Amino acid sequence: MKFKISTGACFIFFSGLYSNLLLPAMELQAQNINIPIVSQHNALVLQVDGNKNLSTIYFGKKLLDQAEYNNIPELYKQGTDYTGILNAAYTPSGSRNLLEPAITVTHADGNNSLDLRYVSHTITQVNDDVSLFSVVLKDPVYNFLVTLYYKSYFREDVLEQWSVIENKEKGAVILQKFASANLYLKAGSYWLNQYHGDWAKEMQPEESRLTHGIKTLDSKLGTRTNLFQPSVFMISLDKPASEDEGTVLYGALEYSGNFRTDLELDYQNNLKIISGINNYSSAYTLKPNEVFTTPAFLYTLSFTGKGNASRKLHQWARNYQLLAGKGNRLTLLNNWESTYFDFNENKLAALLKDTKKLGVDMFLLDDGWFANKYPRNDDHAGLGDWQENKQKLPNGIASLVKEANNNGVKFGIWLEPEMVNPKSELYEKHPDWVIKQPGREEYYFRNQLVLDVSNPQVQEFIYGTIDGLLTKNPDLAYIKWDCNAVIYNAYSAHLKNQSHFYIEYMRGLYKVLESIRAKYPKVPMMLCSGGGGRVDYAALQYFTEFWPSDNTDPLERIFIQWEYSYFYPAITSSNHVTDWGKQSLKFRTDVAMMGKLGFDIVVSRLSDHDLQFCKEAIKTYNAIKPKIWQGDQYRLSDPRAGSIASVLYVNEDQSSAVIFNYLVNNRYNEGSKMPVLLKGLDPVKKYTIKEVNLYPGTVSTIDALKVYSGDFLMKAGFNPDVNAERPSVVLEVNEVH
Ligand code: DGJ
Repeated sequence: MKFKISTGACFIFFSGLYSNLLLPAMELQAQNINIPIVSQHNALVLQVDGNKNLSTIYFGKKLLDQAEYNNIPELYKQGTDYTGILNAAYTPSGSRNLLEPAITVTHADGNNSLDLRYVSHTITQVNDDVSLFSVVLKDPVYNFLVTLYYKSYFREDVLEQWSVIENKEKGAVILQKFASANLYLKAGSYWLNQYHGDWAKEMQPEESRLTHGIKTLDSKLGTRTNLFQPSVFMISLDKPASEDEGTVLYGALEYSGNFRTDLELDYQNNLKIISGINNYSSAYTLKPNEVFTTPAFLYTLSFTGKGNASRKLHQWARNYQLLAGKGNRLTLLNNWESTYFDFNENKLAALLKDTKKLGVDMFLLDDGWFANKYPRNDDHAGLGDWQENKQKLPNGIASLVKEANNNGVKFGIWLEPEMVNPKSELYEKHPDWVIKQPGREEYYFRNQLVLDVSNPQVQEFIYGTIDGLLTKNPDLAYIKWDCNAVIYNAYSAHLKNQSHFYIEYMRGLYKVLESIRAKYPKVPMMLCSGGGGRVDYAALQYFTEFWPSDNTDPLERIFIQWEYSYFYPAITSSNHVTDWGKQSLKFRTDVAMMGKLGFDIVVSRLSDHDLQFCKEAIKTYNAIKPKIWQGDQYRLSDPRAGSIASVLYVNEDQSSAVIFNYLVNNRYNEGSKMPVLLKGLDPVKKYTIKEVNLYPGTVSTIDALKVYSGDFLMKAGFNPDVNAERPSVVLEVNEVH
């Protein structure tokens, strides 16, 4: 299994071109061998001791002299390590370990113990930014190996870490726990920033000081695994980090299925972070000579607060992980909230004209276009029957795509490929393709069930559905891939070993996505899960963007987008202007501009001024979007800390920035009473600040001719003049020569 498809290939390809250092244990003379994994500012230092234990001796600021890492262990007088492996780089269980393990196995002979000792390591310089470290560990008693991989991104200070577990025993070994990574941090105190949520309430942050024992962040939902608990988190060391101060680690598992992160504060006051696929109901049988590759755990460590950590992660994501991270995105008009299931060809023809009138790139046809025996007229029927509904669309998708082309706009379509309604022909024809327990009552989430994506026939069906649509309609420009149900009654009629179910489901899903991308590398796709129920960096290798939430109330959305922005760059965030909330059309549009702009409103009902505003706003957006998508993001004023939210995006050469400012408190006389300190500008450059995206007929209170130095704007600040009359203010900052 390979979750990071590129990794293995890079290793093989570049090892001949760049330095590839293989260091077998016997060649190493010294008692202790250090393996420093360094990036621009950071060092993660592994150490092999005389007994060949591999441990983490340091994770912090890079030292000037590598030899001095050796002095680190003696600095700590934290008491006795009764196990000798408290700081193991990958903690085994059943031998000396007494705390939470990264790996637990049952050997072919039924024995439950595991010990892992260093065998060798390699360092491969993949290119001038990326290096790959691998360390082979082996049980001295059993023929059982684990190779730890660390992929280091030098400029971004980002690490990806995963494990390859290999059974060379004579019989099958059962993996009871099989983490991707096992970090070990040292600090006075640890502050966990985690997230919880539900539908329309995504990314609710919660910060607490970790106490001794284990705190687990996990999901057992199978699909839509971020619904109640996203897998991303932050750990601040010694005190909660702020935007620009403090040491903070961001962690994220690159996996869309069940995840589990254990944070164990041990008796010595060190923090062990063990993250990987959730082993819940997933003991994995590894046959002789079989290899199990875990997904990658992604992390970055910042010593200058959360803002820096975010920018590094954003940079990494755009450079290496996102599909078309540097590419274009399409603005769109979606019909979900304007029609729901109630549309036909005539209505859609009018919407296509509206798409053109508005000036966006594309029309996105949402749910309700398919199924005939059980038409999809509400959310009770039709999922799985991906044929155009003959009553609504007698001439099929093809005629709509053509009509869109005639109007000079593109056409995109919604699908929920992993799902089935019990009221569907698919369910009638293939009940064995559906996840349900034989003999138990079915239990539904949004009146639907999940298809058994572990089954190759189902994979073929899903691939065939998408491929069929794209083959028949080569001009189809976009796919919104939805996923609204979680998995109840987990059971596959196809699999022999039910404990493999959750893992095989994800392998199946990635296989399908891989095949789709092999044939259609460029078609943009939105990752949607009834909102942000599925957002992670494994899925984002295949998707150009995600849908953060069905909650598009702009006030709520400021908070939701703010939290996502810690981990994901704005280019990934699909934001639509809808009729949710009480704010003005301008306010709603401004908020939606902080990412990838779309609309889901009834254009024909807009007043002349509203329509004029939207058209102008799209033009403004098209002019400023390079800064939003590719610029460095600075969160200037936290809506949770005061009445103003303020976010800035600045281009690479610091010649131009855009700042979004909002009033988030409607109490009497609230507003931007104090200046907002700008960030990310060049102190010696001179700038003007102009308000953009004004509603027709309004005059800005900002003097667009006044010139300020970057130094002034970053030390004294700027007042965007936000108040009840001006609750949403967009400013463009431009260098003057
Ligand atoms: C949930 C999505 O989040 C919505 O945007 C919409 O596509 C509906 N599903 C359609 O059923």
